[in-house]
Amino acid sequence: MIEVKNNVYWVGIKDWDLRRFHGHELSTHRGSTYNSYIIKDEKTVLVDTVWNPYKEEFVENLEREVGLENIDMIIINHCEPDHAGSLGYLMEKIPNTPIYCSKNGEQSIKGHFHKDWNINVVKTGDSLKIGENELVFVEMTMMHWPDSMLTYVKGANVVLSNDAFGQHYSPSSLFNDQVDQCELYQEAIKYFANILNPFRPLIKKKIEEIKAMNLDIDVIAPSHGVIWRDNPIQIVEKYYEWSQSDFSEDYAVIVYDTMYDATKNMAQAIAEGLRNNNINSKLYNSSVTDKSDLITELFKAKAIIMGSCTVNNGTLSSISMLLEEMQLLKLKNKPAAAFGSFGWSGEGPGHISERLKKNGMKVDLEPIKFKYQPTEEQLKECVEFGEKFAQSL
Ligand SMILES: [Fe+2]
Ligand SMILES: [Fe+2]
Repeated sequence: MIEVKNNVYWVGIKDWDLRRFHGHELSTHRGSTYNSYIIKDEKTVLVDTVWNPYKEEFVENLEREVGLENIDMIIINHCEPDHAGSLGYLMEKIPNTPIYCSKNGEQSIKGHFHKDWNINVVKTGDSLKIGENELVFVEMTMMHWPDSMLTYVKGANVVLSNDAFGQHYSPSSLFNDQVDQCELYQEAIKYFANILNPFRPLIKKKIEEIKAMNLDIDVIAPSHGVIWRDNPIQIVEKYYEWSQSDFSEDYAVIVYDTMYDATKNMAQAIAEGLRNNNINSKLYNSSVTDKSDLITELFKAKAIIMGSCTVNNGTLSSISMLLEEMQLLKLKNKPAAAFGSFGWSGEGPGHISERLKKNGMKVDLEPIKFKYQPTEEQLKECVEFGEKFAQSL
């Protein structure tokens, strides 16, 4: 156990090896942690568990450090198996322990475990005195599941926020002031872009609601990654910034897929046009770039230019899948344009342009396309296309 603050302890698992999460959907280059917490007061409270592959190690740790018979209650902030997965194994050993969760959490726990446990439903503002500290519950519906909630430990002033404010990051230290800040923020924004972005408007409202509660917050302890104890509000402020519909950083992204480099050559010429008008850009070939990293870059981009050569009257699959993913993650409201080469029919760039519009991007320019390898003259037209796009920003 590692003391977080005033008898609040971390009893989680560090998963150094994890490289894919949510099945294989999300890349986790720096591993992850499953953070579970113990509060030792007159009552001993366990908050969340860990992913089921680690259930034995987790329960052994609890037995050694706390004693299972000493656990008076369990709070389940969120029932996704990376946090509640070990609950079944733990409850086999302490089956009568009361569980506290949100109303949606009750359904979720029953749906996952099919057991008749002692489940107590709590809602926003409900509190539970456990001795010197009091637990206050705040529902965090769709941050990022219907059942999500946070538990505020009033007294210790620790927010146990579950997935919110987390990162898939497993450094040697558990605390934000002891890790590389660039790595930390890279993982925090990647988490936001890939998991939380669909719920952006709700997040903005929820943060305003939490701010209005005027809680004294000394520590924010999420269920993945490091614990925010140095200026914890910094991550709340970042979430607020990221949740604005017009959030972006100061660069454009050109993303393309290519068969024989004609579309790639067009991409480079368009980037030159952007640069001529003082717009920095990053170029990515979507077929060889990690999808989760690419989504993070598209989330941060202030504009997106997307290209593919035409194949079978459409686009290469990495571009069509990316457009689908962007729609599902509600990546929208950015200036965008399309381009590409073709061999005979040339529908690809038009498909991209239409799909970008359907996704809610702002598309003003007609897509640019050329047959076969672009000539010097055509590459100049691509440069001009980039310049024109830059002027519109
Ligand atoms: Fe989750
Ligand atoms: Fe999680």
